[in-house]
Amino acid sequence: MPVLTGISSLVTCASPEGQGAIDAVPDAALAWREGLVTWAGPADRIPGAYGGETVLDAGGRLVVPGLVDCHTHLAFGGWRAGEFADRIRGRSYLEIAAAGGGIASTVRETRRLDEASLLDRARGFASEMLARGVTAIECKSGYGLDVETELRLLGVYRTLADEGPQRIVSTFLGAHVVPPEYRERREEYVRLLIEEMIPAVAADGLADFCDVFVEEGAFTVDEARRIFRVATAHGMSAKLHVDQLADGGGAELAAELGAASADHLEFVSDAGIAALASAGVVAVTLPIATLVLNQDPPPARRLIEAGAAVAVATDFNPGTAPSNDLALALLLACNRQRMTPAEAIKGATRYAARAIERESELGSLEPGKVADFAVLDAPDVDHWLYHYRPATAAATVIAGEVIHGELPGR
Ligand code: NIG
Ligand code: FE
Repeated sequence: MPVLTGISSLVTCASPEGQGAIDAVPDAALAWREGLVTWAGPADRIPGAYGGETVLDAGGRLVVPGLVDCHTHLAFGGWRAGEFADRIRGRSYLEIAAAGGGIASTVRETRRLDEASLLDRARGFASEMLARGVTAIECKSGYGLDVETELRLLGVYRTLADEGPQRIVSTFLGAHVVPPEYRERREEYVRLLIEEMIPAVAADGLADFCDVFVEEGAFTVDEARRIFRVATAHGMSAKLHVDQLADGGGAELAAELGAASADHLEFVSDAGIAALASAGVVAVTLPIATLVLNQDPPPARRLIEAGAAVAVATDFNPGTAPSNDLALALLLACNRQRMTPAEAIKGATRYAARAIERESELGSLEPGKVADFAVLDAPDVDHWLYHYRPATAAATVIAGEVIHGELPGR
């Protein structure tokens, strides 16, 4: 039953509500047993029963709940650096896509790779994230867009989930875009999704969620509604990419469906904001994608004022967010979305866990929750995000085991 002391600030996120309510305890201690937290609070109040236990030393650092990256496209083939340069020269994301680049180009590269190569790459990305304190990752398919490759991508995530160390949640994103070979017959692709892909994914229990990119150039609200009707019947919860490039009524659809989350939201309308807040749909913001596409940020302040829970994730993918650095996303959420560091960290812990429907186990440090946490080399959350450095996890702990870095005894 280890006890961790030497914690300058322990962010517990014990309060379920309140974007900025992170319940930071100065000079704290944290204890766990068999992978679950048993006690969290001020070091001088730890019950005497912990007296004879092994004491570990956080070295005067910040401890936060294991970071949850609740929106990634972790497995893909190739990269798209040429498009990055093209966009800087003035070509738009939609122009590049219309000319056969964009998502379609990653689909070509992904279809070429076998499962072992995709797994190798994805595992590498996940281990980089571990070194930065990320203990749970939501992973989307969506670069296969045929039955075989979509199943291969989800197979990669199943292997990652089985081998660990991170907790992996999988999302089927066969409705990312209509693949080029179906361009002239999109209804046939929607039918393929509904009649073959979703049943095949569900038969093998390969996805917790179904996601649809609702946008011009991707899927309409009506198509999404049909796809979700089938996905829900097959036991998958809904997540949506919405209102990223224009207001398409996607947030309202997410609310109507009772989705777990609505993601992107740069162009969400006032009606969409109100709908998300009243339906309790988590608003997932993806500030690296906003930055890379050189967009104005999503209205995080208005979402918070309306009462919505705002999460922050990387959206790691080779097109719009080629960085898997969640701390960078948090820094951008602060500076561009005008969220305080406390509000941002709530969005990458408790509210991110809510966005993947795992809030009952993950996202906060309280008795009974999993002992997943990161020891970050900073005195507190404000300092951590203000003095941004790429790899600040002195230790990453999952289910009470030190998986990255070290926690010396004292
Ligand atoms: O989340 N918006 C749609 N999908 C991805 C981008 C995919 C890509 O460009 O490869 C996103 O930003
Ligand atoms: Fe995405």
